[in-house]
Amino acid sequence: MPHKTPHSRGMKLTARTKSAYGAWSSSYDSDRNPHIALEHPEVMKLVAPRKGEVILDAACGTGKYTSEFCIAGARVTGIDFSKKMLAIAAGRCPNANLALGNLSRKLPFPDRSFHKVNCAQALDHLPRLLNPMKEFARVLKPGGILVFSVTHPDMNWGGYVRKDGWSNRFRLTENADIFHRRFCDYFEAIERAGLAIDRIVQVPVSKEVQAHLTPKSYRAVKGRYQVVIFRLKKSSRRISCR
Ligand SMILES: C[S@@+](CC[C@H](N)C(=O)[O-])C[C@H]1O[C@@H](n2cnc3c(N)ncnc32)[C@H](O)[C@@H]1O
Repeated sequence: MPHKTPHSRGMKLTARTKSAYGAWSSSYDSDRNPHIALEHPEVMKLVAPRKGEVILDAACGTGKYTSEFCIAGARVTGIDFSKKMLAIAAGRCPNANLALGNLSRKLPFPDRSFHKVNCAQALDHLPRLLNPMKEFARVLKPGGILVFSVTHPDMNWGGYVRKDGWSNRFRLTENADIFHRRFCDYFEAIERAGLAIDRIVQVPVSKEVQAHLTPKSYRAVKGRYQVVIFRLKKSSRRISCR
């Protein structure tokens, strides 16, 4: 039996997550996505795309944010490892540059290329946090902004019951496709990547997702923090992490 290194295990995990998104791609935009419903207005406020800015939408998926950044007049590049998700983004965002790539590897962009990087609901899928964070820092211009959203570390999914049975159709499994992280894991990676926290927005379960959940579930989970969004700045000073 071949020896399984952490690297080969990581490759397997990546392949299964990619295939889950391939299967989800055709209904991704029509399925109700509670994370996106909750975070969308906050992410847009934190990224605040402006005309002429050069923005990377990392793990752009079907191009929801990519297209909104384009409409705001930004020059947008989207990258994702799912060809099927990217094919939908291509139809939606004719003006964006779209690239096939894995966020766990070196990004195919030169140093200091972007004013802003957005990474919505994807870091939870990466087995390691530090390298992608360092890559985002590398491709940002000095003073550039990284916004990323993830499942809130304190989220308790007990009693969270969706009406549409989504989780029976697409298997994204804890510790195989989704990695649960603590706040300290984010703080450590942020600091070691040379980024500095500008804002943290915690988004609770609220009426935006009421229609996604059974009435009993909504009553039980309302008010729990479901998503957290970090807005970070590429710092010019060197930061040490002890
Ligand atoms: C929950 S979706 C979010 C998509 C988009 N950011 C949005 O907000 O609609 C997660 C996306 O991350 C992508 N993804 C997951 N792991 C990735 C990786 N290692 N490299 C590149 N993309 C990845 C998936 O293909 C999928 O499109």
